[in-house]
Amino acid sequence: MQRTRISEIFSSDSPLGEVLVQGWVKTRRSSRAITFVQVNDGSTLRDLQVVVDEGNPAYPVANALSTGCSVSVTGEVVESQGKGQRFEIQARELQLVGGADPETYPLQKKRHTPEFLREIAHLRPRTNTFGAMARVRSAVAFAIHSFFRERGFQYIQTPIITASDAEGAGSMFRVTTLDLNNPPRREGSVDLGEDFFGRPTFLTVSGQLEAEIFALALSNVYTFGPTFRAENSNTSRHLAEFWMVEPEVAFCELDGLAELAEDFLKYIFGHVLENCDEDMQFFNRWYNEEIISTLKGIVDSRFERITYTEAVDMLLQSGESFEFPISWGVDLQSEHERYLTEKRIGRPVIVTDYPKEIKAFYMRLNDDDRTVGAMDVLAPGIGEIIGGSQREERGDVLLRRLRESGLNEEEYYWYLDLRNYGTVPHAGFGLGFERTVQFITGVSNIRDVIPFPRTPKNAEF
Ligand code: 4AD
Ligand code: MG
Repeated sequence: MQRTRISEIFSSDSPLGEVLVQGWVKTRRSSRAITFVQVNDGSTLRDLQVVVDEGNPAYPVANALSTGCSVSVTGEVVESQGKGQRFEIQARELQLVGGADPETYPLQKKRHTPEFLREIAHLRPRTNTFGAMARVRSAVAFAIHSFFRERGFQYIQTPIITASDAEGAGSMFRVTTLDLNNPPRREGSVDLGEDFFGRPTFLTVSGQLEAEIFALALSNVYTFGPTFRAENSNTSRHLAEFWMVEPEVAFCELDGLAELAEDFLKYIFGHVLENCDEDMQFFNRWYNEEIISTLKGIVDSRFERITYTEAVDMLLQSGESFEFPISWGVDLQSEHERYLTEKRIGRPVIVTDYPKEIKAFYMRLNDDDRTVGAMDVLAPGIGEIIGGSQREERGDVLLRRLRESGLNEEEYYWYLDLRNYGTVPHAGFGLGFERTVQFITGVSNIRDVIPFPRTPKNAEF
């Protein structure tokens, strides 16, 4: 008999008849002569109630089930008399597939703290929160691919091991080799990997520079993969390993890029609202009771656009006392970003034209010679969710900026070549995938929207 997923049972208009259901026990409740087992198989937030009568040969097995056991059940789907569930299954056969000792199984039918759940990363997918998070994350990933596909973008896979530092600043993880059959005898004798590649290599901080190579041939491309930063920031929105989506568009300037970013975010939010209603209702109930209305509001309104200079003026005139004082030339801190989106404007804001000193070498220099064609999208409650720019397409200006930034121009020969051979205006951005999921679900800590968070002092298996 073919397995039926619980989501199918609940989305059907009428009882599905005889089915095979397999999953994990959430709870069991026994009353006289009858046992009710709530089973979840991860296809939906909802548990399916399995009813086992005393006359059933499987009754003793059902009666001994505890949270976390895995079961296989066949039986008839019937209308449920119980509250809050349309259907239940009247068990014909029930098998225990794998037991879970209630003395040691760490999950119980109660709300566990996020901190506790992080300590059991191998079991937390079985909680309602993590199941919902994983389904929403998957839906967002799907929406990202379908948005770009609809717009004729090609998906490009860029390398994880790289020799260049795409952001021209910050800390990277270095790649080393280790012969497990012949481990180093003492600390510090590890081969730094140079023998292998013939040069130092790192885990990528961004696929942008490689994406530019392909944009200058295929026109519209995007990457979607893991990126790594060795920043020692222990905040609720930084990870050492996170996923980034990076579109790169040829024959496109800053305005076109801002349009793309706005359309992109609205598409993702719209997709989630349409396809993840049940999970979103859950997040709305337990994590942020305004999240659904906020997302709907964003889909229906226009993002605000201001320049960095206007943002600084707003902050200076705000009368707020910030921990980091603001003045022209200083990078916006998360408290500034949050003031702008939450208190001042109340919806996402696109801030453009930052001072060149605080942005990467590849951003296009504006005519004022002081600012660059940078673009950050700030979201209420999160701050920066997208960072991007128009790229410097003029070879001579780029060379000057490389030198000013203290970078080795010989190592960037290929990047300069793209300007010397058939250069075109082009622009792109990076969307932080986890920050997006954080925003959509209202989950406050970034460690709780990625299956296996990597943060300083933390890389559980
Ligand atoms: O602003 P960032 O550093 O931009 C770039 O890397 C560009 N090369 C992107 C491009 O233009 N193609 O990073 C982009 C986004 C940020 O806006 C943020 O959402 C996310 O990536 N991000 C992080 N997310 C989690 N943890 C971290 N440590 C992050 N650093 C950046
Ligand atoms: Mg940034």
